[in-house]
Amino acid sequence: MGFTVMGVTAGRKDSNCEILLKEALMACQELGAEITMINLKDYDLLDCTGCTSCTMGMSMGKNTGCALKNKDDKDKIMQVMLNQDAVIFAAPTYALMPSSLFLKFMHRNLAYESAFLTQIGAIEPRDRVGALISVGGSYRSWQSLALECMQITTVTNSFKIVDMYMATAVPAPAQVLLYEEKLARAREIGQNVMKALNTPAAERKWLGDPDAGWCPNCHSNSLCLGDVQWKGLKYPIECTVCGAGGDLEKTPDGKWKFVIAPNGLERDRTTEEGRGVHCDEIAEVQGGFFMDPNARAEVAQKLEKYKKITFKGI
Ligand SMILES: Cc1cc2nc3c(=O)[nH]c(=O)nc-3n(C[C@H](O)[C@H](O)[C@H](O)COP(=O)(O)O)c2cc1C
Repeated sequence: MGFTVMGVTAGRKDSNCEILLKEALMACQELGAEITMINLKDYDLLDCTGCTSCTMGMSMGKNTGCALKNKDDKDKIMQVMLNQDAVIFAAPTYALMPSSLFLKFMHRNLAYESAFLTQIGAIEPRDRVGALISVGGSYRSWQSLALECMQITTVTNSFKIVDMYMATAVPAPAQVLLYEEKLARAREIGQNVMKALNTPAAERKWLGDPDAGWCPNCHSNSLCLGDVQWKGLKYPIECTVCGAGGDLEKTPDGKWKFVIAPNGLERDRTTEEGRGVHCDEIAEVQGGFFMDPNARAEVAQKLEKYKKITFKGI
């Protein structure tokens, strides 16, 4: 049986994201894949209410799922999306990051966190391939959080991102059609997805530019100064996406590079083991609060003051 590949976009109809995504998907189809494609603009999608039903489930080792299940189209889409061999995501960049529609859809993935659901035996482990396309009117400096924000929202469902492409300088609708090289790069995304699918899961590797980004682990282009983490772990520098820890070092040719520490992948968020540590953190910090009647009583008592304070709205 052939592979299944899905495209998910949040861009304008018949515009840049859709065009690049279709180029990538056509390459997959030519290589034998069965294709599904959706634009999130066509669906009813609610914003996560923050009810913590799903993370309370994590604290109790139960699959409580999403409180919004069956109230919109999210679950219907997830039933298809999580059964694909690969998914290619294409999002327009708004204010440096993926558009709010894309993020609204992807933030709801927490209720489907595969690190937790496989740990409790609610779902079978599945190796998924993923690739990312961000599209912006400007250059990297104005899309500096785009691929990074997209990537972190895909790790929740264990998509192994094998390639990502930032299409720059295409602000007008469908303007990307002027640039053969951008269309060709999108096709290459599709080809790389198929190459990954035809490789045994344990041997799948990053297929984009080997030097892409700062992080040699997830290829993000975003680092931050490390700070104390849960249970005291600390690194001088962290990758903001996968959480790899290490430090900057100068190479003999005078360039800076991010070198991952020997223990720097302990909490690698691209792996289920790494995210499992965060599930344990949630169980302790949030679950611990709900299990402590004194802490809950103290919060309920102190909250009264804040409930009574109101200011003029609009
Ligand atoms: C509200 C808004 C904010 C935007 N912010 C950015 C930005 O920060 N960086 C950028 O490169 N492009 C930005 N753009 C331009 C879009 O990313 C660009 O038009 C892109 O082609 C949209 O993709 P689409 O044609 O698939 O919808 C913005 C557009 C809108 C409407």
